[in-house]
Amino acid sequence: VIRSVVAGCGAYLPKQVVTNADLARKIETSDEWIRQRTGIGQRHVAAEGELTSHLAIKASEAALKDAGIKADELDLIVLATTTPDETFPATATRVQAALGMTRGMAFDVQAVCSGFVYALAVADNFLRVGQAKTALVIGAETFTRLLDWNDRGTSVLFGDGAGAVVLKAAPGKGDKSDRGILSTHLFSDGRYHDMLYVDGGPSSTGTTGVVRMEGREVFRHAVTKLAQAVDEAIASNGVSEAEIDWLVPHQANRRIIDSMGQRLKLAPEKVVVTIDRHANTSAASIPLALAEAHADGRIKRGQLVLIEAMGGGFTWGSALIRW
Ligand code: ACO
Repeated sequence: VIRSVVAGCGAYLPKQVVTNADLARKIETSDEWIRQRTGIGQRHVAAEGELTSHLAIKASEAALKDAGIKADELDLIVLATTTPDETFPATATRVQAALGMTRGMAFDVQAVCSGFVYALAVADNFLRVGQAKTALVIGAETFTRLLDWNDRGTSVLFGDGAGAVVLKAAPGKGDKSDRGILSTHLFSDGRYHDMLYVDGGPSSTGTTGVVRMEGREVFRHAVTKLAQAVDEAIASNGVSEAEIDWLVPHQANRRIIDSMGQRLKLAPEKVVVTIDRHANTSAASIPLALAEAHADGRIKRGQLVLIEAMGGGFTWGSALIRW
């Protein structure tokens, strides 16, 4: 079989940091409330004129360097974002041009907070069928541009950033000992639209819109749907919880993260957490966390990494990767 092996990863965060205390000066909230309910302590916010593509390009350059490959070796760029630079073309083509890649293909994937898992699955399938050999998968967001800063129920939750992973096709034996992506699991259910959406768009209002969310309902669905996604990833590969070295979850709420860690009977130190510093960066949160734990030596070659995410749509999913 063909496996998509992670050859490198990288990340980028905008310089500007906004703390909970900064927000509490503008809206009726507190550092204590935000930390207790979400685990968030601060978020990075892109500067004026700093676009999703700019963050994506920096993360991609870091990932290519880490992988030791040049942009002209790439066949495919899949970029997950909810906050493209423009309605069209795909932000991925901006990244393609900036990296100096003139062949192959580049396109965006939209699955909100599940975007990176979706993009990874798309790239993995291209590699498995042989339509590409080397792929760059990016999650990049300037999500704070979609916030109503007067809505304390949503504005305290999100941040900006980007992360990227380079995948290379390599032969495997077809069992769980292979390096690379072992499986991906994607789900969606459009009936839940009203619980989490943006109230604008090119076809509906002609405006960008802002995030609307029923936080408590989203929370409740996240816990059960993520459990389904991680259970399926484990069962379909014949691995036990004890074999999982790292859980790298989408970073939406510390309590959701902890409940997934407990479900998998993982020691807290095996769960990669960035929400305290990054907040929820939507499609960027998983590759940001992967890049951090890879760079600091926590995630080592040969280890088993489980990723999972849930977001607007609803969309949700997981992937099991041998690093
Ligand atoms: N500061 C202070 N008080 C606040 C704030 C705030 N920022 N926001 C809401 N409150 C108040 C509410 O008004 C409410 O007050 P009331 O009781 O007087 O009416 C009280 O706090 C409780 O509000 P709830 O919404 O019930 O609080 P909850 O414990 O559910 O926490 C939260 C809200 C943090 C949004 C939580 O529901 C959550 O994290 N849900 C998941 C949503 C999520 O992660 N979305 C991200 C996108 S999807 C994804 O990535 C999975």
